Amino acid sequence: MKNMNTLFRLDNKAAIVTGAARGLGAAITKTLARQGARVAAVDIRFDEVEKIAVEAGNGAKAYTVDVSDGKQIRALVESVARDFGRIDILVNNAGICPRLPFLESTETDWEKIVSVNAKSQYFMMQAVCTVMKKQGGGRIINIASTGGRIGSFANASIYSGTKGAIVMFSKSVAREVAADGILVNCVAPGVMDTDLMRNLPPDRVKAICDQIPLKRLGRPEEIAAFVAFLASDECSYCTGATFDINGGWVML
Ligand SMILES: NC(=O)c1ccc[n+]([C@@H]2O[C@H](COP(=O)([O-])OP(=O)(O)OC[C@H]3O[C@@H](n4cnc5c(N)ncnc54)[C@H](O)[C@@H]3O)[C@@H](O)[C@H]2O)c1
Repeated sequence: MKNMNTLFRLDNKAAIVTGAARGLGAAITKTLARQGARVAAVDIRFDEVEKIAVEAGNGAKAYTVDVSDGKQIRALVESVARDFGRIDILVNNAGICPRLPFLESTETDWEKIVSVNAKSQYFMMQAVCTVMKKQGGGRIINIASTGGRIGSFANASIYSGTKGAIVMFSKSVAREVAADGILVNCVAPGVMDTDLMRNLPPDRVKAICDQIPLKRLGRPEEIAAFVAFLASDECSYCTGATFDINGGWVML
């Protein structure tokens, strides 16, 4: 075991973080960079992701990509492998959560949410695993949601379906790539204090907090710290797992 000061260090590792401009992705980008990783910060919002890459430092670089587009994903992974020389860590975090009553949702809504949340993670994993396999291993962390564990309480049935799919993609891919030294795990955040949740009515947020044993929303940094552990060499005997980080809201 390393000495305590070097535990969970990510020096000499290159990481991709999607949805890096805001919320959890911005916090994950900064935490991985602080732990020593060079981060490819990916988002559809160029100005914002550029700013996060500068704030993260340690050689972080911004890439503007729509992760719902398979062609853009493959071009991104090629560019990052060329720019950084390797890819050791992938954090599939980009996601959208439109509030849509089930009976009003359309096929277009379905296609959009599934493409951004689930298709993106599947094809990012495929492109990155090809690189990691040649390198002899890596770490993939997919951001799911409590909605993907127990279903949605708040008009987000398509969203919850995509998050459940992510948990199952992760388990299945974890089995297929274990022999290549690639570990695939999921983090399922509860209710976090980010823009994605701010579109919930305040009385709904209060009602949720009342049910959480820790009585508050989670902070993005609390997810980021866990992701840093999963990305590190110290996380060496864990794959196909899903970690519920939700203040005790849901205990599975
Ligand atoms: N906030 C929560 O309470 C919560 C709870 C559970 C799970 N999650 C999950 O955590 C992840 C991050 O959520 P957040 O709260 O930080 O959201 P957020 O809305 O604050 O940030 C999401 C980021 O993803 C980017 N993005 C959206 N569509 C994209 C696309 N097509 N291509 C590239 N980038 C795109 C956005 O520009 C934004 O920067 C999501 O997958 C979300 O489902 C969040």
